[in-house]
Order: sequence, then structure tokens, then C-alpha cells
Amino acid sequence: MKILLGVTGGIAAYKAAELARLLVKAGHSVRCCLTDAGSRFITPLTLATLTGEPCFGANPDYHEWRPNPKVEHVDLAKWADLVAVVPATADIMGKTANGLADDLLSTILLAARGKILWAPAMNQAMWAHPAVQANVTRLQGFGHAFVNPVEGLLACGDEGAGKLADVSEIFEAIQTLLAPRIPILADRHILITAGPTREDLDPVRTLTNRSTGSMGVELARAFRNAGVRVHLVLGGDLKGPSGVEVVRVRSAQDMLEACQALWPDMDGLVAAAAVADQRPEHCAPEKVKKQEGPETLVLVRTPDILATLASQKKAGQWVIGFAAESEHHLAHAQSKLEKKGLDAILVNDISGDRGFGFQANTLTPITKTGPHPSLGPAPKGELAQAVVAWWGQRLSAGS
Ligand code: CTP
Repeated sequence: MKILLGVTGGIAAYKAAELARLLVKAGHSVRCCLTDAGSRFITPLTLATLTGEPCFGANPDYHEWRPNPKVEHVDLAKWADLVAVVPATADIMGKTANGLADDLLSTILLAARGKILWAPAMNQAMWAHPAVQANVTRLQGFGHAFVNPVEGLLACGDEGAGKLADVSEIFEAIQTLLAPRIPILADRHILITAGPTREDLDPVRTLTNRSTGSMGVELARAFRNAGVRVHLVLGGDLKGPSGVEVVRVRSAQDMLEACQALWPDMDGLVAAAAVADQRPEHCAPEKVKKQEGPETLVLVRTPDILATLASQKKAGQWVIGFAAESEHHLAHAQSKLEKKGLDAILVNDISGDRGFGFQANTLTPITKTGPHPSLGPAPKGELAQAVVAWWGQRLSAGS
């Protein structure tokens, strides 16, 4: 997609360079436009080098791309699928909110046809000022998106909400705005389980598995991008994507309880968690001492979260499970589909060292009608998008 990155005058302008790099790496075409004040904090050469595109701005020395200089702002506004202003000052927001345009960036912002995202950064008292907040509300009323400033130590030495949000959060917000929504999934509520569970033996030892949870986190991101309201019940240490409601859990029992509290209000479930099938019969309150001779650990079964939720399914709810299989993949997965009462199961071949933490992966969907063409091999982010697209098509086809 085509992104115009507007950079205005604030100390956080240097962070626009990192954002430009991430956007280019994600495959977007990025052109930058500096305001005069922005160009005092970061140079056009930095942004042009990172994006491989000329940098635009108030200074005629770096107006390189001029198919028709008289209407440059209109050309750039038409070109962009999204204009992101990072960092955004009170000044540029105030101008756009009130229809003022006295330089290239502010004219682009009025002429823009695509989406507009603001990531403001300023002194906390300025951000809290009713005039600035009124402008923000006005811009939101035009349909513009915001990644609000966060609390922190500001360049002026004050502390408060005024610091530019993390570049990764701004990047995620841009990706979400640009991703095509899948109408049949949009605004639905989906529950995703992800990550390993941990079953404690004593205060220092635990039983767990090699799952990182990355597939479930990527699925949460891909469903969110499709317009879904995602509730992620997450074991392990990974961070949940922004814009996703995350409930952190430790054991299988914790995961079941968190899921059961959410499930009645959900439209669907994707169970990607690597749930421990057994837990120690007892968790010792103190660290267990080693003993002479053979030692025995008594294990008992944990609840099957997927099977439990599938058995409580109401009309209209759907359930997708995962099967990590090292042999007879399709036959084992087909029998799990039937036994657990699922609408679909995604089979992950974990023979050899595949599946866990490895980047490229393949998933074969199976439904009641049998196996479907495999998705991948692809990195987990792309694979998750393919799963969401596949499921969206199935739901649209009414099957
Ligand atoms: N699952 C679950 N709760 C469990 C075990 C598994 O919700 N206690 C879910 C997983 O999230 C996955 C699916 O069930 O979606 C299949 O998990 P898997 O470990 O492959 O299968 P099991 O049913 O545990 O069978 P087995 O270990 O015999 O392969």
C-alpha cells in the first residue's frame, strides 16, 4: 500500500525514521513529507534514504518529485492510501481540524482521500488543553484515527501523557487501518486461545511445552486486521497485539475459567493454545527436595478446553481447533474434529522439528467434508492471514 508519512516539529521526529523503516520492510511504498519545523529535527536525506523515495516538504531543495508542481499536494494526496502524521504537533492538528492549509503537509491533509492517522506528541499540559482536545474530537468526527500519546518523561523534563506512543504500536495501527476488512467477520467477537500452559510442581518447577504461542498471536493480529474484536486468552511470555483484549493465564484450569467467562458472548473460538494435557496431582507449597532412588511424579488430566467449549456451543457459534501431529496427520486430525465436535481443524505437521518457533509452516484445514488444500508454507504472520481469509470464505459460502 502507499503511505504518506507526515513528520512535524517535535523531538520525537527521529522516531519517524524507525517507523518508515518498518513500513518499507512490511512491503509498503512510503513517501515522507516534512514540515519546516520537522526538518529542523530530522533531515530529508534520512527519510529519503530509508524509503528509497524523495522526501517532500516546505524546503524547495527537496521537492524532487514534481509531475506537475502546481498541484503537488493534490498528486500526493491522491497517491496515498493513508496519511500518517508522526509525530503530530498541536499546530498541525489545529490547522487540519479547522480547515487551514498553509504548507505542503497541511494542504495534503485537506486534499487526502484515503485514511488519516495521527500520532500526537507534545507537552502533557498542551495535550490536555481543551482547545487541543476539541481539535482531536473534531478530527475523530471526520473519521480520522489516533494513536494517543502515552505517559512518560518528556523532553522538557515534565512527566505525563504527551510522549509519542511506541513506534510498534503506531505501525500496528497503520497495518490494521490498511488491512482489508472481511465483511462477514467484521465486528464479530472471537475468542482465541494461544501459548503454552504451565502446570506447577512446586514454587520453582513447572511442566510446560515448547510452544511459543506465536501462531495464536499472529491469528489474533490477522483476525483483528479483518475487523474482528478479538479476545485472546494467552499463556506464555509473548505480548498480545495492540487492539486485542488479552487475558493472561498460567495453567490449563486458568485458561478454561477465562474462556468460559467469555464464551457465551463470542461468535467463534480458535483454539491455538498448546494446553498441557497433564498436570502434577499436587503442587507442593514448598520447594520439593531430591530423594535417593527413583522418584515418581503422579500426573492427572487437565480439562480439555476446546472440547468443553465446543460442547457448550450455541446456535451460530463456530469452533476451530488445531492438531499438532507427528504422524498420520489427516486421520488423527479428522478423528479429533469428530470427537471434539468442531467446525474445522487445522493440522500442523510437527514431524522433525517443524511447527514450534520455526518461521515457515503449513496448515491443512479439515472440515466435515474432509481435507481442504493446504495453506502455506509461509511465515506464521502470512499463514494466519491465509487462515482468516479461508475461514471468511467458508462462512460467506454458508458452509
Ligand atoms: N486443547 C485444549 N485443551 C486441552 C488439550 C488440547 O483446548 N487440554 C486444544 C488445543 O488448543 C488444540 C486441540 O485441542 O486446538 C488439539 O490439541 P492436541 O494437543 O493436538 O490434541 P489432544 O486432543 O491433546 O490429543 P493428543 O495429545 O492425543 O494428540
